[in-house]
Amino acid sequence: VVAAAGVGERAGAGGLKQFRPIAGVPMLLRAVRPFANHPEVRRIIVAVPPNCAAEPPQWLRDATGERVVLIAGGPTRSASVRAGFEALGAECTIVLVHDAARPFVSRETIDAVIATAARGVGAVPAVPVGDTLKRAMNGSSRIESTVERTALWRAHTPQGFPHRMLEDLLRRSTETSTTDEAALAEAAGHPVELVPDRTSNLKITTPEDFELAEALARL
Ligand code: CTP
Ligand code: MG
Repeated sequence: VVAAAGVGERAGAGGLKQFRPIAGVPMLLRAVRPFANHPEVRRIIVAVPPNCAAEPPQWLRDATGERVVLIAGGPTRSASVRAGFEALGAECTIVLVHDAARPFVSRETIDAVIATAARGVGAVPAVPVGDTLKRAMNGSSRIESTVERTALWRAHTPQGFPHRMLEDLLRRSTETSTTDEAALAEAAGHPVELVPDRTSNLKITTPEDFELAEALARL
């Protein structure tokens, strides 16, 4: 399930963030391709803004077919993921949820997430926090303290789950503000494991991230 129905407010002007080209290739295509090229991925449901689902641009129309399907996302990421999950066939035993805003996911990461979820647990690709972390005093630039960073990881996508686990989580949750599905699993007491990922699987959020992405795409 690819979440691609956001508006990209923090990315500034320049059209829908997930449709914006990175070295000539729309970010959404870059995010979908490693899954489309993966032999174990049966179906790819892409949740896009409702107007785009109704009238996709030609490049997106060209990328869809029997295996890659467009659906209308919802007003929040959680709603979009939920809609995507509901559009999946029951033949999928493992479900991966990926953000269109992560165009550099590697084959190795997808493999590792599938392998972990296949053991019956949730899988979260992540990288250990490398910087020293500071906590600021309420609303100011004054530092209150240093946060212990050992044991802290930055969570990425694709996050993987056994179909039954995700179904259960989505059925029980009315939460719409969670930024990832793993949080639901953790709260419900399901085992969720970290899968070491690469720093290059970054999320594109701001205009500066697009500059980084351009450079990364040309490496
Ligand atoms: N997303 C979605 N449906 C929404 C909101 C977000 O599918 N209603 C997707 C985005 O398209 C993105 C992913 O969730 O691929 C992660 O969200 P984020 O990076 O925050 O993207 P946006 O919500 O589009 O950006 P912003 O928060 O700056 O508006
Ligand atoms: Mg957002």
